Order: sequence, then C-alpha cells, then structure tokens
Amino acid sequence: MLKLTKLATAAALVAAGSAAMAGEVEVLHWWTSGGEAKSVGELKRIMQGKGHTWKDFAVAGGGGDNAMTVLKSRVVAGNPPAAAQIKGPGIQEWASEGVLANLDATAKTEKWDSLLPKVVADVMKYKGNFVAAPVNVHRVNWMWANAAVLKKTGVAGTPKTWDEFFAAAEKVKKAGLIPVAHGGQNWQDFTTFESVVLGVGGAKFYSDALVKLDQKTLTSATMTKSLETFRKVKAYTDAAAPGRDWNLATAMVIQEKAAFQFMGDWAKGEFTAAGKVPGKDYICAAAPGTASAFTFNVDSFAMFKLKDAAAQKAQADLAAAIMGTEFQEVFNLNKGSIPVRLNMDMAKFDDCAKLSSKDFVETAKSGGLLPSIAHGMAVIPAAEGAIKDAVSQFWNNDKMSVADGVKSIAKAAATK
Ligand code: GAL
Repeated sequence: MLKLTKLATAAALVAAGSAAMAGEVEVLHWWTSGGEAKSVGELKRIMQGKGHTWKDFAVAGGGGDNAMTVLKSRVVAGNPPAAAQIKGPGIQEWASEGVLANLDATAKTEKWDSLLPKVVADVMKYKGNFVAAPVNVHRVNWMWANAAVLKKTGVAGTPKTWDEFFAAAEKVKKAGLIPVAHGGQNWQDFTTFESVVLGVGGAKFYSDALVKLDQKTLTSATMTKSLETFRKVKAYTDAAAPGRDWNLATAMVIQEKAAFQFMGDWAKGEFTAAGKVPGKDYICAAAPGTASAFTFNVDSFAMFKLKDAAAQKAQADLAAAIMGTEFQEVFNLNKGSIPVRLNMDMAKFDDCAKLSSKDFVETAKSGGLLPSIAHGMAVIPAAEGAIKDAVSQFWNNDKMSVADGVKSIAKAAATK
C-alpha cells in the first residue's frame, strides 16, 4: 500500500514536471455582472498567459451569500477549488478549519508585507502566515447619481446631509422619476443600512455599534434615529424593488429612470462598462453625512490546500498575479475599486477612484477608516448574518415599530 502511494506520487511528479508545471486553477467567485465579469476576465487572461488552465467557478448572487453556501458543500465533500473569494474575518474561520494553504513563499518573494497596508495584511494572515491574497479596496459608503436626472428634476448639487437628500428625493418623486434605485435583497438592504448609520451617527458611533457590537450603542437614541432615517429612505424606492439584483438597480440610474443608488463602487464598474463618464454622466459622492469616513471592503482570494504539484504551482502563480502591478491596475480600472497594493500609479484612474484613494489614506489617519459590516469586513459571519436578517425584517415590514427594530437588531448582534 505504502509502495503504491509512493509510486503514484512519483508518477504524478514526473507528469507534472513534463507539462512544465502548467496546472489548472479553479476559482470560485460571484462576479457575474457586466463590470464584474470584465474584471475577473482579466485575471483569467493573465493566468492563461502563464500557460495555466482557468476553471471558472462562478456562483451568481451579489454579496456572495450563494457562493459561500456552495463553497461549504465543496469543502465538506473534500473537493475545494484552488481559490475562493473569501473576505475579512471569514478568512480566519476557514483557516482555523485547517483547509487553507500557506502562501508565505510567494508572499516573501513578492514582498507582500511591504506592499500592503498593515491592516489589510493582518486580515490575510492566520497565525502569522499568509493564507489569502487581496485584490482591491472597495469603498461602500458611496451614493451614485445620474447627472441629467438631477438637472431635469431641479436638484442643485449632490445632497451632503440627510435633510438635503430627502429634499432632493422629494423633487425627483414629484417629477415622476424614482428617487432611489434599490434591490430588495438582504445584503443590499444592509449596504444601505450601514451608510445610513454612518451618516446619522458618525465614525465612532458606527464603530461602536457595528464593529464592536456594543449593546449600549446599539440601543441608543442615535440608533433609533438611524432606523427612522433608514425607513424614510425606503419610502423613496419603487414597488418593484424586492428581489431586484444590484446591477439592475444601477442600470436604472444609468438609464435615467432613477436618481440615486446607495452602493459600493462595484456600481462604478457598471457605469464604466456602459461607457459612462464620472462628473459628466454620473456623480459619485459620499453618502450623506459620510464624507470624512470610508467603509472599506477588501476583496481577497483565500487559497485551499491542494495535493497535485502542478495545481499548487498554478495556485502560487495566481497568488503572485493577484498582487502584481499589471493585474492590480487593469482589474481595478474595470471593477470600480482601487488597488490594494501601495504606491501604485493612479494616472489611468478616474476622479472617483482618485477621491477614494485620497480618502482611504486620510481616513486611515483620522480614524474614519472603518470595516464594512455588510461586506464581511467587520464581524464574524454568524453575527453578520443575524444582523443582516434583522435589518431586512425591519426594512420589509413597515408595521414593525422603530423601537422593535432597534431591539431585534441589538439582539441579533449578540449572536456568537
Ligand atoms: C461585494 C464584493 C464586491 C462586489 C459586490 C456585488 O461583496 O466585495 O466585489 O462584487 O459584492 O457582487
């Protein structure tokens, strides 16, 4: 038995060697919208250029909830992909199961420690070893607006406070257009919610409530005000919002059917794919009250332990490519995000990306740089899921009182 295994291993090594170590790399992600697909297509191109075979494992569903369910079943069945889009504290959870590969050799050769902000590098490591490679920095607290719609409905300038926002929304509504393009899916409700909490309460409040999950903060008067504001935003969405995909909501803004969307800058990937120009066709502005803060969402690929030597080589090449300058530029130009690799040339990026890049650096110093709870950056997945459900229950049920909404969100936040 032992001999057979040894023989098989030797044969596999010879076979792998003769194929110049070209391997297959299976990559799980949920990037299926126009801008997303273009972005991931660049990674495929780079990997194929290195002679590897790209096996696309796309699981549709914005925010990745479906993808995570499918991933769990594949790993439990002992058949993980080479890489999967796993983010934030979720990386630690997967690593603690002992299923992730150690990427230190690649990280050392490519000098990841000196090329990444420390806050990001720490998330990519488990017990000091790299187990994931980051691709970008998305900013979540954006508000997208169609410039022509604002003009024709008489909205002068982008609203900077929630009061200004509701005044603008009223004008758009009166003109017969949809003020807020929204997709009623839990993760989209949650995305809007975190921007409202940040705008109403400020950076410290957000951090205490949605990162530290402090019960006192979660049940405070500011939380009540946040929920009141959140409900008011809903009044400006259309009746067809439930179930709508986020990119279709973005399309409503692109097509001048709606004025605003609260969404991270993957929405910019849709504007870009549609040939729209920021500052001319559309406006990117921080969600009301959030200009001096930045909720970050770092996409990353965790790598799974693989047995086959050629597959391991392809996996290491994938990790190196992800952090390489070519990928960091072309991917992020399409995706709407900014490079996570430090000291990248931003010349080819648009004004929204330049603003994001500037605010990322500034908020890191001011304390306004905050992890997005809606996108897996802030708390463990169990707590995130519970709060997300509670937020959507409140959003979907206009009969639930604000006081009950506050209570149920605070209760969900206690999930361990
Ligand atoms: C986020 C992800 C982004 C974007 C979005 C919508 O969670 O970080 O890259 O794709 O979902 O699918």
